[in-house]
Amino acid sequence: MKYILSAILLSAVVGFASALNNIHTPLVAATERSAETCGDPDDTLAFYRLHAASVFAYSYSTDAAFVSAAILQDGYVLESVIGMVFVTQETSTVPCYFLSSGALEDNFLTTNTTERDAAIAEGYTLLPTFQTYIYPTQLCGSIPMYRLYNSAETSNYFTTSESERISAISSRGYADVGIAGYVLPAGGRLLGVSLCYLVVFEHGVEV
Ligand SMILES: *[C@@H]1O[C@H](CO)[C@@H](O)[C@H](O)[C@H]1NC(C)=O
Repeated sequence: MKYILSAILLSAVVGFASALNNIHTPLVAATERSAETCGDPDDTLAFYRLHAASVFAYSYSTDAAFVSAAILQDGYVLESVIGMVFVTQETSTVPCYFLSSGALEDNFLTTNTTERDAAIAEGYTLLPTFQTYIYPTQLCGSIPMYRLYNSAETSNYFTTSESERISAISSRGYADVGIAGYVLPAGGRLLGVSLCYLVVFEHGVEV
């Protein structure tokens, strides 16, 4: 159990460090955040990114129990918190659909219903419980969530980090497919709290 806990702690620290690098957009002045046009940032949850490197698989979740199970049972490592997302629809946000293919070992996020339906036709399964809500344009202090694709590995990859985007293209076979949507940046303090929560949560579980 100690070994597993330290592995989780380590991946949390790595995630913390890499997510801190994601904070590259200055906070928008409070006056630009109007309650009439923005969701309430207090309602957002950390959007964790998990990675199973051997199969080029990434997964994304706001659910600490899912994240823990993916680490403990499915060989995933917690990489970072890529941003803060809503789990119910708020002002100006749109659904971000989560599609999963076990056969392709791939997960795909899109706000575009045409792409959602095309993915379903290709064999992806729509998972409504993983659906989040994000901004369709750069509103309310949000930052771009870049979408990349490695066709040789049929691997979709999402990041808010410009340096991760560049290194995925230059050294990992991914092509830029644009911007999937806009999420709120993960602040250092909030991020620390949510990762601590994850570790504490895990500590309370019999493993
Ligand atoms: C949705 O995706 C389709 C297929 O890629 C594309 O043709 C269309 O322009 C997209 N719609 C929006 C609103 O981005």
